[in-house]
Order: sequence, then structure tokens, then C-alpha cells
Amino acid sequence: MVKAAATRGDVHAANQSTPLISMRNIRKSFGSVHALQGASVDVHAGEVVALVGDNGAGKSTLVKIMAGVFGFDSGEYSIEGQPAKIASPADATALGIQTVYQDLALCNNLDAVQNLFLGRELTGPAWFGRRIRRAECEVRAREVLTRMRLGQLSLTRPVGAMSGGQRQNIAIARSILWTPKVVIFDEPTAALSHSASEQVSALVRTLANDGLGIVVVSHDIHNFVVNATDRIEVMRLGANVASFKSSEVTGEQVVNAMVGGNEAVNLAG
Ligand SMILES: Nc1ncnc2c1ncn2[C@@H]1O[C@H](COP(=O)(O)OP(=O)(O)OP(=O)(O)O)[C@@H](O)[C@H]1O
Ligand SMILES: [Mg+2]
Repeated sequence: MVKAAATRGDVHAANQSTPLISMRNIRKSFGSVHALQGASVDVHAGEVVALVGDNGAGKSTLVKIMAGVFGFDSGEYSIEGQPAKIASPADATALGIQTVYQDLALCNNLDAVQNLFLGRELTGPAWFGRRIRRAECEVRAREVLTRMRLGQLSLTRPVGAMSGGQRQNIAIARSILWTPKVVIFDEPTAALSHSASEQVSALVRTLANDGLGIVVVSHDIHNFVVNATDRIEVMRLGANVASFKSSEVTGEQVVNAMVGGNEAVNLAG
């Protein structure tokens, strides 16, 4: 018998501040595929929210809408209490929403500094001018890595020669370079060793403690999700079916809700 199924209201009552992000009743179809059928999620400053669910549940679609990759058919999306005006990923970036992509999107032959600033040349601060100035980039890179407690990472080695965990850290550093309010991770610990996953967990917590809101899509229920997040939203068939406080739930209970093993729990949301 599952005992710790908190209702959405209970969980949300714990944090009354205006959420950084609030998505309500979002619907999104791709042709005849109803990817989202009334999905909701709130993200507060300082909070790590996990989005979990089986393959095809709609997790990536929801975070892609959050990040401006897709629009949505109906529902409400607000940022700090205001309706979000997001028509592209660039709009989301400008509003302080950054995504760390699953494939990391790093260039293996370039070093950490080059990867951090890749493609940002013309969107960076005015003092950049039209070309990247290496010394200034190195200073800024070092600042960001120090803020992430990663001061020991090499700035000059090609990232292709780095471990999976180190590459993940560079991808995260790249996302926080322009001081976002919300960082979205889609499967940050997939393909990472246990110790590298622990490092990512610590890093996610450091960012949340700095006041960022963090959204993590993860299938790593038993380790990452229950141990490194604050709240868990369970999705099934494009809608929320349960919400848990991470400290009050076991991996088994979360998995049950994901696959529909206990309808009484699933309908609690
Ligand atoms: N660009 C797209 N075009 C058409 N259908 C899509 C597209 N993106 C997602 N879908 C469909 O929407 C549904 C939800 O997919 P989504 O990628 O959001 O699931 P997910 O929860 O992230 O799954 P996974 O755990 O496998 O990554 C699936 O049925 C998927 O096939
Ligand atoms: Mg996905």
C-alpha cells in the first residue's frame, strides 16, 4: 500500500511565493498525436522539480514548450505571474530560461572556453564587440565555473578528451553563463557513472541554492529523482497523474504512479 501520496495542493501549499514558471492545463497535439492533454507544472526559485513518466508521457514536449521550442494549443503559461510571450527559444533565453540538452551539443575539438562561448558572439554583452576576446572569455568562464564549484576544470583541454561527467559540467556551465532564472535538464545523468551522477546532483543543488529554479526530466528514479530533487511531478499520457515531495516518497511509489500500478495514488493529483 502506498502511503506518501501528497496531493498537488498539499505540496504547493508548502511554497506560496509566485512561481518563476507556472504552466497550467497545457495541451499540445502533433497531428493526431495528443502529446499533452492538460499538463501542469510550477517551478519556484530555489526548487528542483523532477518531471517523470514512461516513454512518450510528454515530458520532453512540456519542457520544449517551456523553452520556446514548440508553441502550445491551449492552456496557460506564465513567468513570474505574467503571461509568457515566448515564440522561439531566443525569447525563452531572453526571459531567463535555459536548457541543457540531452546530447550536450558540445564541439569535441574545442576547449571549455570556446564551447562556453560558441555561437554567443553576437548576442553577448556590448563590450565583446564583434569577435570573441579570449582573455575576457577565460575570466568569465573561470567566474562561472567557480560559482559552480568547478574551479578545477581545465579551460584549455579539448572537451572531447574529457570524461562524460566533465562534459556534462561544461554543458551546464554554458547554460548558466548568461545568469538564467530557470535551467531545464532533459536526462542529465543518462550515460553517467554513479560518481558523475552524484556530481551532477551536487551541481543542481548548488544552482538551486543560488536561487535558480531547476526542472529535470529523468528516468533515474531510484537515485537521482528521489535523492536530488524537491518535488516530483508524474506524467502519464500527456497529463499529471501524481505529485510527490521527494523526501517523502520511495522510488517504488514513484514508479507505481508512472506505470499506473496503483490507481488510488495516481488519481490523487
Ligand atoms: N515533433 C514531434 N512530432 C510528432 N510527434 C511528436 C513530436 N514530439 C513528440 N511527439 C509525440 O508526443 C508524445 C510525447 O513525446 P515526448 O517526447 O514528449 O515524451 P517523453 O515523455 O519525453 O518520452 P521519453 O521518456 O521517451 O523521452 C509521443 O507520442 C511522441 O511520439
Ligand atoms: Mg523525452
